[in-house]
Amino acid sequence: MPLFDVYPLYNVTPVSGKGIHVYDDKGIEYLDLYGGHAVMSIGHAHPNYVKAVTNQVETLGFYSNAVQNPLQKQLADKLEAISGCKDYELFLCSSGAEANENALKLASFKTGKKRVVAFNNGFHGRTSAAVAATDNKNIIAPINAQQEVTILPLNDVEGVKTELEKGDVCAVIVEFIQGVGGLDQGSTEFFEQIDKLCKANNTMFIADEIQCGYGRSGKFFAFQHYNVTPDIISLAKGMGNGFPIGGVLIHPSIASKHGMLGTTFGGNHLACAAGLAVLNTIEEEKLIENTNTMSAYMIAKAKTIPQIKNIKGRGLMIGLEFDFEVGQLRKDLIYNHHVFTGGAKNKKLLRILPPLTIQKAHIDQFFDALKKALVDIEETV
Ligand SMILES: Cc1ncc(COP(=O)(O)O)c(C=O)c1O
Repeated sequence: MPLFDVYPLYNVTPVSGKGIHVYDDKGIEYLDLYGGHAVMSIGHAHPNYVKAVTNQVETLGFYSNAVQNPLQKQLADKLEAISGCKDYELFLCSSGAEANENALKLASFKTGKKRVVAFNNGFHGRTSAAVAATDNKNIIAPINAQQEVTILPLNDVEGVKTELEKGDVCAVIVEFIQGVGGLDQGSTEFFEQIDKLCKANNTMFIADEIQCGYGRSGKFFAFQHYNVTPDIISLAKGMGNGFPIGGVLIHPSIASKHGMLGTTFGGNHLACAAGLAVLNTIEEEKLIENTNTMSAYMIAKAKTIPQIKNIKGRGLMIGLEFDFEVGQLRKDLIYNHHVFTGGAKNKKLLRILPPLTIQKAHIDQFFDALKKALVDIEETV
């Protein structure tokens, strides 16, 4: 049976991984500066992770949400302690889109309203409400288009005020560092004003931390760089280091009710074991500190490359912008220099999202490869 052909694929077949590296079926080592779309937080085959997931699957891999599962509470407590998000409550699911779908649903339940405000170049996933709040018409099917969404420019405080004062907006959803869009960030004033406007207009402020959260920005959550208190925080990607797990942190002003949300797979035993191993490792190995040190090192090196015209993002979520489209450069980096990097909706931008365990030697290796790839590209033009 053929696979439904929706992904343009690079001709590489990774078969194993260790730390910052993956290895293909021919034994070639690749430096992974993309982390499989920002998923690898503690690195490939981290021993803590392998041990925790192996032990759990040998013991009890899955049981439903109809019985007690103390691992969920352990995960929630650890997340509260590490993130500093006191008093929120946790709902577990299995992907980023599902986290945002539940976040938007909660906002609508809480306020009794149904219009959403989102922003240009935002990406929130491919399910019904999440995709409608995503600024990409190509992935919105007619069935999704019935959602009421208003997409505004980032930093348009007046626009947000006008929309919220109409009284029908249940949620404002925002990425504090845009991922798929290309690493743009709103201003401090913008984020802090949205927070205030939401509170003044009975609108839920949703921080989509699916890509920029879990330490990647240099704080546990990217919104923590600002003086804001989101009502709902959505999580996934780095949360499971490859295990499909997502979650929603919910402010206690939103009361739970039996049956309000639900899922078969969310919060299963194996997912919780993976999630706990990730949090324990972030703490034990001081990965947020490492993120800040490596980020400064990477940015300093990037500044020495004349072809890099702009450096975007924060922490280990870095965008390197050139004055040409980077498709060929990415191919050259993979096939000739064995480095994985990411692209973005902004075609001139390389998206760098390595595991948070990255060290200076890997960054040196990347910039050596990048310099060579830039020469290759110039020679072919
Ligand atoms: C910010 C953001 N939100 C939501 C999603 C959707 O996550 P998933 O692909 O796990 O459904 C993504 C995925 O790239 C994302 O970057």
